[in-house]
Amino acid sequence: MNNNNIQFHDLHSSRNEFASDVLSGLSHRPASIPPKYFYDAKGSKLFDAITELPEYYPTRTEIGILSVNAAQIAQHVGTGSLLVEPGGGSCAKVHILLQGLKPRAYVPMDISKDHLQLAAEELAIAFPWLEIHAACTDYTKEMCLPPSAPKGTHVAFFPGSSIGNFDPDGAVNFLQTIVDLVGPGGYLIIGVDLKKNKQILEAAYDDAAGITALFNLNLLTRINRELDGNFDLSKWQHKAIYNDEVGRIEMYLVSQMDQTVKIKDSAFSFAKGETIHTENSYKYTRDEFITLAAKAGFQSEALWVDENNLFSVHLFRVQDI
Ligand code: AVI
Repeated sequence: MNNNNIQFHDLHSSRNEFASDVLSGLSHRPASIPPKYFYDAKGSKLFDAITELPEYYPTRTEIGILSVNAAQIAQHVGTGSLLVEPGGGSCAKVHILLQGLKPRAYVPMDISKDHLQLAAEELAIAFPWLEIHAACTDYTKEMCLPPSAPKGTHVAFFPGSSIGNFDPDGAVNFLQTIVDLVGPGGYLIIGVDLKKNKQILEAAYDDAAGITALFNLNLLTRINRELDGNFDLSKWQHKAIYNDEVGRIEMYLVSQMDQTVKIKDSAFSFAKGETIHTENSYKYTRDEFITLAAKAGFQSEALWVDENNLFSVHLFRVQDI
């Protein structure tokens, strides 16, 4: 490492769960594959392209909310904290907060080592005063601070409505691990996509340029390459629907004909119209999310939304016992 204000920690176990998760997910009916496997190198690039799409409002709306309210956020949280970002692989949105928060140190955590290392190095150039302790870890499984991280009020930052990719019970469990991580008096700044008109939501996940379709189908390319699969991509189609009973976008790959797919020595048959469920993206009203976070032990401190009520940024504090 050539930057002396970055420390890099590889906390990630090398166990390959991709194969076992895919084989087990495709054996069940309805079939499913966890969305965390979207993000190989190509998938991460496609996701970056999604964030620029005219239909995909969450990224630019959240950046707008954070930019307008950065000073207020800093007023609530104070300076000199230990700022932790689970999934902070690109460190992109934290730029907006760093000037005001002036944290004592920043801990980005991400499963993708190369992505994390590069982003930490770029951040160190832009903020030479910042101490960075980058931790390569699967934050959905294990969330612990690197041993070198200094003390200070702990502030977690979880933008992008990534919380929506957990089901509500999983979201409460995940927030409980954040409560444990930040400890008494700690804070959470979290971006949450709001419930809204079905047309806006479905367009955001089924864009006219077909980038989200490529992102979804890339999962099959990854299985072919890494797990010796023989998916024929022309026999699958992307589908995204908003299920308003449960308040979530559901993404599927739909089999266009009866077919059998092989992965290594295993065979999986799909009838025409049968689906592989690849992602849920839950949407919450402001109050629904405050209630959910309270179950984990967080109390609402402040809330910011854009003028069109598309997206919310919540500030929570660990409840006093
Ligand atoms: C990463 N996550 C919050 C995105 C979302 O909106 O649920 C992933 C995504 N899937 C399709 N488009 C974007």
